Amino acid sequence: MKVLVLASQKGGSGKSTIAASLAVAAWQDGERVVVVDMDPQASLAEWGKLRETGGIVFRSVAPTALDRWITETRKVPAVSLVIIDTAGTFGPEVDTALKHADLCLVPVRPSAFDLRAAGPTVDRLRLFSRPFAFVLNGTNPVTHARTADAVAALEVGGAVAPPIADRTDFRDSVASGLGVTEIAPAGKAATEIIALWQYTKERMSQR
Ligand SMILES: Nc1ncnc2c1ncn2[C@@H]1O[C@H](COP(=O)(O)OP(=O)(O)O)[C@@H](O)[C@H]1O
Ligand SMILES: [Mg+2]
Repeated sequence: MKVLVLASQKGGSGKSTIAASLAVAAWQDGERVVVVDMDPQASLAEWGKLRETGGIVFRSVAPTALDRWITETRKVPAVSLVIIDTAGTFGPEVDTALKHADLCLVPVRPSAFDLRAAGPTVDRLRLFSRPFAFVLNGTNPVTHARTADAVAALEVGGAVAPPIADRTDFRDSVASGLGVTEIAPAGKAATEIIALWQYTKERMSQR
């Protein structure tokens, strides 16, 4: 079983949006997925309630129980992937999730402010020696403007996963309890999320 964590000390960077569509892409790829929403805002849990399709299991785990829950769930063969979405402010439960991460994805908007704000998140991941990758989220869908310099800046600090553009499919998918690969399987958002899932899978398998 692998643990994938979405984290960044910045609200609105796209953690929950990416977690939702990645969960669907992973499930469609044959993973037995359990989603855990550790953010009190509960965006991902709300998205789960909207889902009419089965397949993905949602678990609510109390912050103080997370450590033990992950350790126990690792022994359950029926689960192959746990995806943990976290709050934009780091607390003890985010630390617990990070410590268990086989990979942590750090979504970052491609702006100077957001790039700078990624620093503390990376410090935390380094402290725990966890593997991580930045995901540039919300890049311009036509020009990908700023992507090149943002990638250059981020590579100094860590690996950079395939980017995700600003696309209506992402907004529609969170509003309807679907993943982008369900809303528009042949769309560009679907292509991007599948590329991100393949990257994620590859990185996690190296451990
Ligand atoms: N790639 C994207 N394209 C379009 N809208 C996006 C994208 N990523 C995030 N959003 C929107 O941005 C807002 C914040 O995203 P969210 O996933 O809630 O961030 P976080 O979980 O990091 O706080 C949401 O309204 C979401 O629909
Ligand atoms: Mg969120």
